[in-house]
Amino acid sequence: MPKASEVLDRVLVLEMVRVTEAAAIAASRLIGRGNEKAADAAAVEAMREAFNGLDFDGTVVIGEGERDEAPMLYIGEKVGKASDGAPKVDIALDPLEGTTITAKAGPNALAVLAIAEKGCLLNAPDTYMDKLAIGPGYPKGTIDLSKGVTWNIERIAKAKGVKPNEIIACVLDRPRHEALIAELREIGCGVQLIPDGDVAGVIATTDEDTTIDVYMGQGGAPEGVLAAAALRCVGGQFQGRLVFRNDDEKARARKWGIPDEEFDRIYSLKELAKGDVIFAATGVTDGSMLDGVKRLRKGCMTTESVVMRASSGTVRWVKGEHYKG
Ligand code: FBP
Repeated sequence: MPKASEVLDRVLVLEMVRVTEAAAIAASRLIGRGNEKAADAAAVEAMREAFNGLDFDGTVVIGEGERDEAPMLYIGEKVGKASDGAPKVDIALDPLEGTTITAKAGPNALAVLAIAEKGCLLNAPDTYMDKLAIGPGYPKGTIDLSKGVTWNIERIAKAKGVKPNEIIACVLDRPRHEALIAELREIGCGVQLIPDGDVAGVIATTDEDTTIDVYMGQGGAPEGVLAAAALRCVGGQFQGRLVFRNDDEKARARKWGIPDEEFDRIYSLKELAKGDVIFAATGVTDGSMLDGVKRLRKGCMTTESVVMRASSGTVRWVKGEHYKG
């Protein structure tokens, strides 16, 4: 059992759902309107306002960008009322994970955040991250990002007790994944290509109903930390390695305290999100994990959220009805 000083105040669990609900509802007004920026801005503004209504002392460590490029929820921004004795937390957030999905009314857009005690979330720069994730129930060390695709698929298949060609992999549909997809198909794996939204893609490995066994490929590093936070709560294995496309991205990493000798480092789940962690997400559009925001008659809106806490190992599914939206 963790000591009381090592866990986040449980009251924050439901508060975090209020925050993701607010962002999801705001973004939902722009579903299918073809305007990614407006959808993102609405979610950001609503999430910030919801944070600032709470009595906690929050610092955004993964946010909308650096101060000079993001007017709100930038990295380093303080949120919350921060009265004397209020809990101090670091926050990783993505008010709208899947801006393009939302603009096109596609599946799996989420409002998402994770909180942890100070210094417990990797301050990931806004670069790509190579990700490899499986859900709970596999022996420790089943996956290894330093090994190849085939090696990992064979290990997962052996641990699951199936043939490698029965494994289903989820991969972002991008030209950069051409070789990865070809190798998976060569093995005979099923490849579920997603247009966007790899936080949901990683979390899908934890839910057997999705039939997805493994998530593979490069997506945003900040999204990697958010997905790792979720896996910390429900179990599963995740490894991530930063991918730099140019010197500017390397400079960003140095700025966030990552020295050159660690550029190739493979981060484990606990190195991405350690200590107690609370992860919350609300569906914006319908997805494999959560229903999106629905607007019913007479002004009622419904939301579906999930909130998880690592120290207690609890996962709560929260359905909300909102009559004053
Ligand atoms: P946004 O919500 O910022 O558009 O991110 C969506 C997303 O698909 C992430 O889930 C993923 O990690 C990243 O974009 C992949 O980046 P890219 O679109 O450059 O391949």
